[in-house]
Amino acid sequence: MKTTSNQQTALALNDRITLVSGTAMPPLGLGVFQVEEGDDLIAAVKSAIRLGYRSIDTAAVYGNESGVGQGIREALLETGLRREELFITSKVWNADLGYAETLAAYELSLQKLGLDYLDLYLIHWPVEDKYQSAWKALEELYLAGRVKAIGVSNFQTRHLEKLMQNAEITPMVNQVEFHPFLTQKELLDFTRKHNIVMEAWSPLMQGGLFEEPLLLELASKYGRTVAQIILRWDLQHGVVTIPKSIREARIAENSQVFDFELSPADMERIDGLNRNLRVGPDPDDFDF
Ligand SMILES: NC(=O)c1ccc[n+]([C@@H]2O[C@H](COP(=O)([O-])OP(=O)(O)OC[C@H]3O[C@@H](n4cnc5c(N)ncnc54)[C@H](OP(=O)(O)O)[C@@H]3O)[C@@H](O)[C@H]2O)c1
Repeated sequence: MKTTSNQQTALALNDRITLVSGTAMPPLGLGVFQVEEGDDLIAAVKSAIRLGYRSIDTAAVYGNESGVGQGIREALLETGLRREELFITSKVWNADLGYAETLAAYELSLQKLGLDYLDLYLIHWPVEDKYQSAWKALEELYLAGRVKAIGVSNFQTRHLEKLMQNAEITPMVNQVEFHPFLTQKELLDFTRKHNIVMEAWSPLMQGGLFEEPLLLELASKYGRTVAQIILRWDLQHGVVTIPKSIREARIAENSQVFDFELSPADMERIDGLNRNLRVGPDPDDFDF
């Protein structure tokens, strides 16, 4: 296993990006948004771990932490891996933001997952006037050794700046929508400057990029799929990525992105696709 800073490209699925906490974060994981509890979810988690994934990204609001936990337990039994070899992320939902509420939400997530700690716990959305008190709770969990790393999600630069004004600990990760139509350059520069690892949600734009001519051209040039071109572009930006699939063949395909390299010119061409286009809500304008 090799560890890299958040500005270098991981060279293998078992490389790790070192967060400021010293926690080793896999460069690529499995997302499980919109996957209901049940056999498909359990099978996807097990396939991913069997195929070498070590990171699973869930959230309280996905309503699937129990199934993720079940998949993890079955995969550990099947593979002989230890819990410590996995990197499990969950997120506190907006309704539970607040010091006491967030502490309670963490316990509930652990209970549903059947785990005694998480590797990464995130504030899911920057609800004004609420994320600061929730951050206090995350800091306390981290300082007490109850969680390996803490971070945020959907934070814009202004949210990060505001949080960091009074925070004891700077967020270690910011998980945001990031793909070739939403390249987040300013936010990426800011997070790099502050040693915050950026993590891409909806890296495949939920399927919205597969007909993009430039990506098809590059897929043909490199002998890869469009999904692989996009995920490789994430990694070469030093951005952790968590594509979602419930299909074993795609879970495998999405992880086979460590044995080729996009040229600097092709990286720039993909950057040039940016349209500031979102598939998800805008963190500057949401009401949930
Ligand atoms: N923090 C947040 O607010 C937030 C918001 C959204 C998502 N997330 C996280 O980010 C993860 C990923 O984002 P996402 O689920 O929104 O979307 P995504 O990963 O961009 O795209 C998933 C879609 O692409 C399909 N797909 C996956 N691999 C493919 C491949 N190789 N070829 C063709 N199609 C493929 C999947 O279908 P199949 O499953 O049928 O293969 C699914 O329809 C989520 O699961 C979640 O963990 C976080």
